[in-house]
Amino acid sequence: MFDDPQSPDWAPLLEAAWKARSHAHAPYSRFQVGAALLTSAGAVFGGCNVENAAYPVCLCAERGALSAAVAAGLQPGGLMAAVVVTDVAELTPPCGACRQALVEFANALPVLLANRHTRQLHRLENLLPHSFTGGHFR
Ligand code: THU
Repeated sequence: MFDDPQSPDWAPLLEAAWKARSHAHAPYSRFQVGAALLTSAGAVFGGCNVENAAYPVCLCAERGALSAAVAAGLQPGGLMAAVVVTDVAELTPPCGACRQALVEFANALPVLLANRHTRQLHRLENLLPHSFTGGHFR
């Protein structure tokens, strides 16, 4: 799967995700997450989780990265790849809210999950089948 010619160069995405993770604000869960997104313009945006004493205010790494990408001009359909990194043994998939947030900006999105030892490639359409989109009410 990693030899797929359609596959992006994961190295800069992984680097951005690990770098962002090093800035995670996770004093409550102590679970630091990093994410990185690649846009069709070739830009890479990192994000980390940002927790809050008021727990529901917590922001996931993926949506932090997405917000940075949108602020820089990302349009629907413009997301090309995503990476999520943690340093626990079990790879961390995006939560349901993040899957829904990502699908808004991607047609088919490869999502690479990684820790220090292993990687696993998924596709957003498999992580979030039958997703709800603007096409359902527009
Ligand atoms: N978290 C993420 O940032 N991304 C995920 O994909 C899963 C969960 C964060 C949210 C919270 O800060 C911590 O992990 C524990 O749930």
